[in-house]
Amino acid sequence: MNFQTERLGPHMAAAVDGVDLNRLPDAPTQAALTRVLHDNLVLCIRGQRLAPVPFRDAMAQFGVPVLRKQLARTTECAEVNIISSEDRDVLGDGKRLVNGENWHTDDSFMREPCSLTMLYGVVVPAVGGDTQFTNMYAAYADLPDEMKARIDGLKVIHKYSSSRKLSRISTRPAAEMAAMPEATHPLVRTHPETGRKSLYLNPNRMEQVVGLDRAESDRLLDALIAHATQPAYEYRHAWRQGDIVIWDNRCTMHKANADYPDGERRLMHRVIVAGTAPY
Ligand code: OGA
Ligand code: MN
Repeated sequence: MNFQTERLGPHMAAAVDGVDLNRLPDAPTQAALTRVLHDNLVLCIRGQRLAPVPFRDAMAQFGVPVLRKQLARTTECAEVNIISSEDRDVLGDGKRLVNGENWHTDDSFMREPCSLTMLYGVVVPAVGGDTQFTNMYAAYADLPDEMKARIDGLKVIHKYSSSRKLSRISTRPAAEMAAMPEATHPLVRTHPETGRKSLYLNPNRMEQVVGLDRAESDRLLDALIAHATQPAYEYRHAWRQGDIVIWDNRCTMHKANADYPDGERRLMHRVIVAGTAPY
């Protein structure tokens, strides 16, 4: 299968055209797609029309799909979750809930966070609803040597409901909250496939740096977040219907935007694939 690749941002993100994932790519094509993803951190596959099962099957070529029971699921396929402008915090205040409105990386409160997230734009608003990404390899590389030396080897506690969180998150049943894992992850991680180092931050889930008192930990995390979320490290994706955007949670952060007018629909199908414990 031949496809055309187009660079999207100056330092990250690429789009490919000429692929129909209703037919699974052959091995060389799949390897080429994975390479575009590794080189560009965010991969957009244009022009798809996929039912939930073929969507899951195509994403399973990139990794092992994981069930996410906290989110709504399609009836056709349990591994395909639904992110929708109609989402409400049903167990909480019933108000509209936009998943991921602040900078984050997916599932960092878990010991083995998902490696990739795939969002498929089934219905996209005419204006707004972009997803922003930030390049955490570049953010790490640009740190002054003193800061690199300081944070090398530091670990951070990540929690589902961290006391530093900025986003509203969906209310979960008490038993589920009690069973919610927390995890300790390195502040600087090495990508298992590319071997490159990146900053591993999640403003929404990080609780505290291990071994630092709270004030010092907050100062350090705030400074690193401010550094990593500078516009220079960003790519902003304006969705076209039929886009599948695959991002690598090991070397990027992302955020949603709920800036589209009320009444505009935005419907995404979502698959995540398994990752390993960061090191
Ligand atoms: C997600 C997420 C962003 C968006 O699915 O993990 O953060 O723009 N989505 O919907
Ligand atoms: Mn997310």
